[in-house]
Amino acid sequence: MADAKKLFIKTYGCQMNVYDSERMAEALESDGYEQTQDMNDADMILLNTCHIREKAAEKVYSDLGRLKDLHDEKPDLKIGVAGCVAQAEGEEIMRRQPMVDLVVGPQTYHRLPQLMEKVNAGEQALDTDFPEEDKFDHLPKRELPARNPSAFLTVQEGCDKFCAFCVVPYTRGAEVSRPAARLLKEAQALVDRGVREITLLGQNVNAYHGHKEGLAGLIWQMSEITGLERIRFTTSHPNDMDEALIEAHGTCDKLMPYLHLPIQSGSDRILKAMNRKHTADQYRDLIARIRDARPDLLLSGDFIVGFPGETEEDFEATMQLVRDVHYGQAYSFKYSARPGTPAAEKEDVPEEVAKDRLYRLQALLSEQQKQTQDSMVGRDVHVLFEKTGRQDGQLIGKSEYLHAVHAVAPADMIGTVQPVRIIEAQANSLTAELLHT
Ligand code: SAH
Ligand code: SF4
Ligand code: F3S
Repeated sequence: MADAKKLFIKTYGCQMNVYDSERMAEALESDGYEQTQDMNDADMILLNTCHIREKAAEKVYSDLGRLKDLHDEKPDLKIGVAGCVAQAEGEEIMRRQPMVDLVVGPQTYHRLPQLMEKVNAGEQALDTDFPEEDKFDHLPKRELPARNPSAFLTVQEGCDKFCAFCVVPYTRGAEVSRPAARLLKEAQALVDRGVREITLLGQNVNAYHGHKEGLAGLIWQMSEITGLERIRFTTSHPNDMDEALIEAHGTCDKLMPYLHLPIQSGSDRILKAMNRKHTADQYRDLIARIRDARPDLLLSGDFIVGFPGETEEDFEATMQLVRDVHYGQAYSFKYSARPGTPAAEKEDVPEEVAKDRLYRLQALLSEQQKQTQDSMVGRDVHVLFEKTGRQDGQLIGKSEYLHAVHAVAPADMIGTVQPVRIIEAQANSLTAELLHT
C-alpha cells in the first residue's frame, strides 16, 4: 500500500475552529491523508482561519506569503484555506495567492472529498456556500481510537445577534441548532473513546434550541451518560441565560462551575451602539442570580475598548463594571473595524487612546486574575488529567474552574478525575499535590 499522504492543519481563532479542524482531518482521511505535526513533512497544508479582527485576517496572508517558499521547493504541495477568512474573502485569497488550491468555508467542508477531486486534477476549488443540507449529516462518523479526555462538540452554529462590530453572522451564517438526539449519540461515541469532559460549542451556545428544553435540557440529558464526568459550554450571550440554565449551574453536578459570559462594555450608551440589547445593570443582576445559584462559579468575559464613539466616561464605566463583577479571567481587545459591519462606517477612536485604554483594562483584569489564582492556594479541587507535563513524572489537567493544574502523578491517571490540593499559584497555572484517599 502506498504511504499515506500527510496533512498539516494550522488552526486560528475560536474553539469552533478547533472542532472544525478535527472534522476536516476526518473528512480528508477518505482522500488518503493522515495528520502530521510537521509542516515541512506535509503534502497538504490547510489553514483554518479567523476573520474576527483585522490582525487575525491579515495573519493568513502573511502566513501564505511564507508558505510560498515551501511551495516553490515542493510544487506538488497542496495548499488550502478554510474557516472564516475563506468564507469572507474566498476569491480575494485566490487572487492574492494563486498557489492556493482550495478555499472552503465553515459550512461546506463536508464536501472536501469532492473538492479534492478537483484539486487532484490540478484545478482550483472554491466552495463558500451556505448549503441547505446539514454538513454533519455528510461527515464521516467519529469512530476513531482513544483520544484526549477533553473534547469539543459543536451543538449550535451561526449567530442572529448582529452586534454592530462583529463578522460572525456573516462568516458563519444564521443560527442553526443540531438535534439533541444526534448530539447525545456523538457524545456517547466520544465517551466510548475515553472522553471524560465535553465542552458544548456554539457562537451563541445558550440560544441552542435543538432540545425542547433548550441548552439546559441538553445538558441534563447528556449528564446521564455514564463515564462522562464533566460538561461545559461556550460562548454565551447574556440575553439567552435562561432560568433553567442558571438553575442547572446550581444543581447539575456534571456542569462545571465556570462561565464565559461576555459583555464587551460597561457603558449603556456603548452597549446600545453595539446592539447588545441589554444594559450594564441587567448584566450585573444576571451575574448576581448566577452566583446565587453557584457561589463559587469562576466568571470569564470579553471586552472591546475603543469602540467608535467611546469616551473616557464610557471607558470608566467598563472599568467600574469589571471592579463590580470581578472576573477570574477575561479577554480584552482593541476594537477592529471589520468590512461590512455597521460599526465600520463610524469614526474610530484614535489609536493611542484605544491602546492606552486596553493597557489600563488589561492591568485591572490581570490583577483580578492574580487574586483569583492566589485565592486557590490551600484549596482542594478536582483535576481531570489530560497529558504528561514538561517535567518528569508530572501530569497536566484542568480544575473544575478551568484552571490549568500540574501535579506529580502516575501516568495512568491520565483520563481520570483526581482530588488534589493546590500548593502554589502562577499567573496562568496552579501547582497541586495529589490527595491520597
Ligand atoms: N459569540 C461570542 C464571541 C464571538 S467573537 C459572543 O458573542 O460573545 C469573540 C470576541 O471577539 C467577542 O466577544 C469580542 O469581544 C471580540 N470581537 C469580536 N469582534 C471584534 C472586533 N470587530 N474588534 C475587536 N474585538 C472583537
Ligand atoms: Fe458576534 Fe455578537 Fe453574535 Fe457574539 S453575539 S457572535 S459578538 S454578533
Ligand atoms: Fe474567528 Fe470565525 Fe471563530 S471569525 S472567532 S474563527 S467564528
